[in-house]
Amino acid sequence: MKVLDADFAKGFIHLCESGFKRGWHERNGGNLSYRIKPDEVERISEELNEKGPFLPIGTKVQELAGEYFMVTGSGKYFGNVPLEPENNIAIIQIDQSGENCQIKWGLCNGGVPTSELPSHLMNHNVKKRVTDGSYRVIYHCHATNIIALTFVLPLKDEIFTRELWEAATECPVVFPSGVGVVKWMIPGGREIALETSKRMEEYDVVIWAHHGLFCSGEDFDQAFGLADTVEKAAEILVKTLSMVSQKRQTIQPEGFRQLARAFQVDLPEKFLYEK
Ligand code: 13P
Ligand code: ZN
Repeated sequence: MKVLDADFAKGFIHLCESGFKRGWHERNGGNLSYRIKPDEVERISEELNEKGPFLPIGTKVQELAGEYFMVTGSGKYFGNVPLEPENNIAIIQIDQSGENCQIKWGLCNGGVPTSELPSHLMNHNVKKRVTDGSYRVIYHCHATNIIALTFVLPLKDEIFTRELWEAATECPVVFPSGVGVVKWMIPGGREIALETSKRMEEYDVVIWAHHGLFCSGEDFDQAFGLADTVEKAAEILVKTLSMVSQKRQTIQPEGFRQLARAFQVDLPEKFLYEK
């Protein structure tokens, strides 16, 4: 089977197109990765190149040795992925040391995987472990309103979570474990990857101050839907804060507790503090 005929490749490309249409991927902004299932690898094996170049990952992900990922290329534009997938995305395999990857397909005119590969792979590493392998997607986008909020709200998990939950009733149901926040750091390396992956132990969403967000999920719909929900809440909050410095009314901690019972989700009490 051809790579581009596989359902996972279609889902990957569809997400790139959806994110681009939302305006979260100016120029080469953002990146995406998918941990390919063994049977999916099997079906596309005829197209995988045994002689592709090996590249250092920039960190060590021993537990992912041998795994295959579909990833966006560094410097490639999300808007171009649907037009020329083979030129803008790649399939890589992690080597046995967990420190290098080999390009097995794609980036046909040259190039390397996303500069955020350390963050993607360290997040996959955590999510694979804490979800018993069910999470397969890591998505990074430059969502406008979330970025705007990182100039205004204190960079604390408790505050971002509570403010986003208050912005739209469905939020605590969609991300009941909350969101993590990483202060401004240099992107593209192991250090920011480490800070991000630590928070992925607990959260499915991690915000990078003055940069964007990382979302994780079982599949493309879940990861994209999460980013969409978080960004929508951020937009509501930005509009609210633009109208008044203080909300006249909002959802109260007791309201969240009732919501938790009605929707059977656990909402950690650390987010339900009295203001
Ligand atoms: P890449 O083009 O290397 O994926 O980088 C884009 C980006 O958003 C960096 O954070
Ligand atoms: Zn970025």
